[in-house]
Amino acid sequence: MSASENGQVVGVIGPAGFGGSHLCVELIRRGHTVIGLSRNPESFGTCPGYTPRRLDIALASIKDLARAFDHIDVLVSQYGPHTQGADALQYMPYVEVVRKLILAVKLANIKYFIFVGGAGSLLVPETHESLADHPDFFLSYRRQMAESNAHVQHMEERLGPIGYDLRLYRNARLAIKSGKSTTMDLHMIQTYEESIRENDQASDYIKAGRATLLFFEGNTSFRWTFVSPSPLYRPGPRTGSYEITIDYVPLKGVRSKENMLDGRLTGISAADLAVAIVDEIESPQLLHKHWTASADLSNDIAHPCYVTSDDI
Ligand SMILES: NC(=O)c1ccc[n+]([C@@H]2O[C@H](COP(=O)([O-])OP(=O)(O)OC[C@H]3O[C@@H](n4cnc5c(N)ncnc54)[C@H](OP(=O)(O)O)[C@@H]3O)[C@@H](O)[C@H]2O)c1
Repeated sequence: MSASENGQVVGVIGPAGFGGSHLCVELIRRGHTVIGLSRNPESFGTCPGYTPRRLDIALASIKDLARAFDHIDVLVSQYGPHTQGADALQYMPYVEVVRKLILAVKLANIKYFIFVGGAGSLLVPETHESLADHPDFFLSYRRQMAESNAHVQHMEERLGPIGYDLRLYRNARLAIKSGKSTTMDLHMIQTYEESIRENDQASDYIKAGRATLLFFEGNTSFRWTFVSPSPLYRPGPRTGSYEITIDYVPLKGVRSKENMLDGRLTGISAADLAVAIVDEIESPQLLHKHWTASADLSNDIAHPCYVTSDDI
């Protein structure tokens, strides 16, 4: 496997998933050679510059993983459980799989490992807390998702019941805004918000994502960068512009007394995050850093969750 003149050989774990499929499209458009690694990497499609390599990272040994990383210059992990539905959003096996990936990356001597984790590990400004541990986070997160029809549709497509509940919550909030709410709407909002405050269904998984950062921080025994997509990460247009922030969650607007995160979270489309990652592959600036990228999300037209080789 060799790359074209200026291109690199990039391994993408999870090439047909949400972030992974957008990343493969961006890489191939920009002349890189992609090796897609997952259980069904052929679901990304067929095109020049793309080679599927079947691999179950949960079952493979560290040696098998290292062997599968052969002839790869840069490895990007876009591994995630979402394609298996809402019940797969668990603390385990994510933490264990990430630990194994790192050991295999070291064994294979990968030149640059780009790990895509979650927003939950980003620190809240003026605190020592990560988003996943901040008392205002989950409610602010769901409220802002519910503001966007495109985001709610993305959640329905990907996570079934979590998305359907979010749609009902959005509808009830819209009814209040239009002055046409019923007692059912008020009850819906109250019940939904109580359940989020008590235990958001994605909380264990989001906490797993923030725990994996500890495998990387301060560890210079391999070459890594840790990307946390900004919280309102969703499908959307490719603007080609983004802003990088190190360690902290970028917040917009002014904080209120009651809730410091309400209405202040930012996001990025999967297409723009892919641009940021490929820029980092082509011109590494963020070695041994934990960073996020945020961008304009004002376009609220629903875009597909997953793209394929037909979208190149
Ligand atoms: N706002 C946020 O912070 C945010 C939001 C979304 C995602 N993320 C993060 O982004 C990263 C990628 O998530 P994603 O949602 O883009 O991906 P995803 O759609 O959940 O899944 C990516 C791929 O992982 C592969 N996969 C799952 N189990 C595997 C296994 N045992 N062996 C090999 N491949 C396996 C699947 O491919 P196969 O079925 O072909 O195996 C799947 O297509 C995750 O760390 C996630 O937490 C962050």
